[in-house]
Amino acid sequence: MPTASQAPETLQFVDGQLILIDQTKLPGELVSFICDSVDQTHDAISRLVVRGAPAIGIAAAYGVCLANPATRQGFLDAIDHLATSRPTAVNLFWALDRMKAVLQSVDDDAELAATLLAEAIRIHDEDRQMCRDIGRHGATLLADCKAVLTHCNAGGLATSMWGTALAPIYHLHQSGHAIEVFADETRPLMQGGRLTAWELSQAGVPVTVLTDSMAGSLLRTGRIDAVIVGADRIAANGDAANKIGTYPLAVLAKYHDVPFYVAAPSSTFDLAIDSGDQIPIEERSTAEVSHPGGIQVVPDAAKVMNPAFDVTPAELITAIITERGIVRSPTTTKLASHLASQ
Ligand code: MRU
Repeated sequence: MPTASQAPETLQFVDGQLILIDQTKLPGELVSFICDSVDQTHDAISRLVVRGAPAIGIAAAYGVCLANPATRQGFLDAIDHLATSRPTAVNLFWALDRMKAVLQSVDDDAELAATLLAEAIRIHDEDRQMCRDIGRHGATLLADCKAVLTHCNAGGLATSMWGTALAPIYHLHQSGHAIEVFADETRPLMQGGRLTAWELSQAGVPVTVLTDSMAGSLLRTGRIDAVIVGADRIAANGDAANKIGTYPLAVLAKYHDVPFYVAAPSSTFDLAIDSGDQIPIEERSTAEVSHPGGIQVVPDAAKVMNPAFDVTPAELITAIITERGIVRSPTTTKLASHLASQ
């Protein structure tokens, strides 16, 4: 896995500022975006300056600490505001719920700011450990793989470090196992082409970018040993929402008898919903599709769709990898007992 010195930190909280890698600028420029306020953090999450389910949760937790005024009501308002930044990744609400629980557990207002910051740091630290553990468990599933296909970016840029879907790949690469990655470019915002390819190249992992529509032919050649993706929200029955284009990839993997793995920490599970039908799917600006990079590619007269996520039914998922281990052929019962275990 990349060490701290190799990989720049996706998020840092230093001297009362939230410092983010501005992911809208990659791969052309590696620059920081600094948040001094709740509004700036909300803007950074909505515009995908910081993105990826775990990273959004961590950013929101730190964002609460930027409330002005730093009063009980100020922190509560910050939590409510940040909860409107993006709808699908449950990690956002999970992190904000933790911040709210801390707020409610502290009686002395003078201790609020320090206690909230300590909780945000804890959320950040726990994510590092979860990614490491997902890497270790996932590596056992990919141990015989030479080439894997992934979609979007579920790497270090989407988490504190190492990622979810990419963590097993970093783990294997660092242990000397030759593994190469095929990355869907991931229309419309190109997280695969821009971000996955960037961070894997930085770490020295061989990576080839393909257009999303090439995945079927590539799977047909037999070159791909496994597909591995992250998730933004997993329902109690194992249905998993992830970047738009994940579901057709799972169908293709099933048809070609290639294992399809989802890697996600326990903070990505939403046990309050029975199935993926209840997962809210973010609709983003149609300009992302009609005017990529500001260039018009769709005539004004045409309507445009832009759902940011789709749902892969559990029956298409070979296994879900969490920090606690592996759940093969996930079902409601198996996931409930897995998540209840330590
Ligand atoms: O819209 P994005 O870039 O936030 O979408 C991110 C994804 O779909 C990731 O695969 C998911 O959040 C998992 S990140 C470990």
